[in-house]
Amino acid sequence: MSTSTNSGDPYGPVTQWLAKLPKAELHLHIDGSLRAPRLLELAAKHTVPLPYKTVEEVEAAYNFQDLQSFLDLYYLGASVLRDADDFYLLMQDYLAVCRRQGIVHCEIMVEPQTYEPQGVALATVLEGFSRAIREAEEGWQQSVGLILSFLRHLPEADCLATLTAADPYREHFVAIGLASAEKDFPPANFQNLYRAAKERGYALTAHAGEEGPAAFIRDALSLLKVQRIDHGVRSVEDDALLTELASSRVPLTVCPLSNVRLCVYEHMAEHRILELLDRGLCVMVNSDDPAYFGGDLLENFAAMERDLGMTRDQGLQLVRNSFEAAFVADEKRRDFLAQLEKHLDDHPG
Ligand code: ADE
Ligand code: ZN
Repeated sequence: MSTSTNSGDPYGPVTQWLAKLPKAELHLHIDGSLRAPRLLELAAKHTVPLPYKTVEEVEAAYNFQDLQSFLDLYYLGASVLRDADDFYLLMQDYLAVCRRQGIVHCEIMVEPQTYEPQGVALATVLEGFSRAIREAEEGWQQSVGLILSFLRHLPEADCLATLTAADPYREHFVAIGLASAEKDFPPANFQNLYRAAKERGYALTAHAGEEGPAAFIRDALSLLKVQRIDHGVRSVEDDALLTELASSRVPLTVCPLSNVRLCVYEHMAEHRILELLDRGLCVMVNSDDPAYFGGDLLENFAAMERDLGMTRDQGLQLVRNSFEAAFVADEKRRDFLAQLEKHLDDHPG
């Protein structure tokens, strides 16, 4: 297992220790794992014109002022994905990261509306993804859940149409989610979508309190009835909400490097994740869009160790929380937690 960061620096001792633990990652947009070399390869394959010719030129564009400036590049990047082999390679690349970083269970956001302008059908997307997932499940017992994620800058009626179009593929997904531009697109706009998804038996999560206010977290909980919040870091602005989140243990899937790259915080040293953890909230660490934000799960832990002084106990609690928050049956959750405890027993000190 690699113990180096992308920049070639060795991980700190806490992150090196965490690297060997079995972990879950619950907040990962598959399109956000499309790295520059693969992006350019697929653009050339399908002759998709891009304003970038080299890996260096693509990576030079990873310089975001806010969520929207990132989303513009993210959707352009995803537009090179056209056939089942492309989706297979994309998923294979991310699942290889899981294997290298000890992520034994991952929950991955898939956004069919992103591919619709290119005329790519959900059947094509899932054909490629399923092939890569099957290989990882059979090859090294990788556990994978897919989240059907909707784009909130589009009308609710479009989201409902996509939900209905996904009915024949219901068994591929564990949950629905809600992503994309947050500020002008509040949870209240999506109550029919979440009601319809609940009737279909999906687990429910939504991005809230990333750029949007703490009130959006409250609304996602009360109006959409979500069981989990993606990001949720702006909960720090509402002390009563923090108390409620600590007692309910509704999880927040926090993404530290993402928050810094999208200017929610100016510097990692200002990030509040460890305060949330120490206050008893069920927070854990995720990479969100690792190709664009400077690293995968372990690079997030490494940055927290370096800039926030994360201890081993805090890191371990974050890993335990990742399994507590997973959309899996309780028996499977117990198996993951037992796997974690066995690793700790077998590797004391
Ligand atoms: N889609 C991909 N990454 C996202 C983020 N950080 N926030 C909202 N939507 C996203
Ligand atoms: Zn996200």
